[in-house]
Amino acid sequence: MKRPFAYIAATGRGIPSTLFKNSDFQSVGIDTTDEWIVERTGIKQRYIARTETATDIAAMAARSAMDRAGVHPGEVDLIVVGTASADRLLPSAAVDLQAALGASRAAALDVGAACSGFIYGTVVAEGMMATAGYETALVVGVEKLSAITDWTDRSTCVLFGDGAGAVILKRSRQSQKGILSSYVRSDGTLGDLLCRPSGGAKRPFSTDVLADRSQFIRMNGREVFKHAVRSMSDACSHALDQAKLTGNDIDLMIPHQANIRIIEATAKYANIPMDKVYVNVDRYGNTSAASVPIALDEAIEVGRVKEGSRVLLVAFGAGFTWGAIAVQF
Ligand code: ACO
Repeated sequence: MKRPFAYIAATGRGIPSTLFKNSDFQSVGIDTTDEWIVERTGIKQRYIARTETATDIAAMAARSAMDRAGVHPGEVDLIVVGTASADRLLPSAAVDLQAALGASRAAALDVGAACSGFIYGTVVAEGMMATAGYETALVVGVEKLSAITDWTDRSTCVLFGDGAGAVILKRSRQSQKGILSSYVRSDGTLGDLLCRPSGGAKRPFSTDVLADRSQFIRMNGREVFKHAVRSMSDACSHALDQAKLTGNDIDLMIPHQANIRIIEATAKYANIPMDKVYVNVDRYGNTSAASVPIALDEAIEVGRVKEGSRVLLVAFGAGFTWGAIAVQF
């Protein structure tokens, strides 16, 4: 596959309607403060899907991207969804989205790479476009993390938010524009540091599971922090090397929005100043697979990504998984 093979034709986002501020945690009995959350994470608020399903917000993001790209549902060849919080365990979130959109011609599948799901999903979509001869792919990162978060655990529930982001990928006809490089890695020996211990086939739902609340996300925050910085830095340098670029050539870095301190440390390692880093973790919290495409959509909307911009997308998630993509607009 000769690159750039595919380019990002348009983006969209789907944001749930319920705004949940740090000060709202008190009303649900969580012993925390706005000051603690802001100081440790940079998060001030997040959106919660109370009335919306994950499919609803994914469809909102997808329709917006499709409208902007001028793509009709029947023209979509492939739908790839990155998610860790699908509406149901079977079938995939991607086929539910396909049905909601009426994209009847598409092949549809999910990618399980947690917060790196959008990066992995884009890599999978680009590869499938090359091998299957697809013209148009829809890649969505969507999460309804509020449904898989333990709302009695203050060390995790303050971190997450719900949302969706989408891109339309099209076959590149220009020599410059499109995905310049990609790099993805994982380390399954670290899986227990951030996981949902129960509810899967090994320990299915039971009264015991519900009693110990082990169907919800559990995380060793300190360890995750350490690995996140190391892995995202590794991903940035490999994606840059592969594209024969340095941090100086990048107009904007869009990192996974987990925590402002992780973002700052990663930018420092990648040698990219913070004024070239897009940050919205303060407004959305950590929306896992949705965070990079939501941030990209906003960055385009506010003019921080324009025709000709070189952008570095980078993420890290449970698994652990991590990856980066260098892309020229
Ligand atoms: N409000 C008030 N106090 C709290 C809260 C809270 N919400 N949560 C924990 N604390 C308390 C703890 O009980 C502990 O108290 P103690 O010292 O009396 O025992 C104290 O704060 C320190 O707890 P730590 O967990 O050690 O706090 P730390 O400084 O490590 O910060 C945090 C926790 C913010 C989770 C940090 O470890 C972190 O950012 N880790 C990265 C994890 C992350 O961002 N994960 C996102 C998901 S993964 C991903 O997206 C890839």
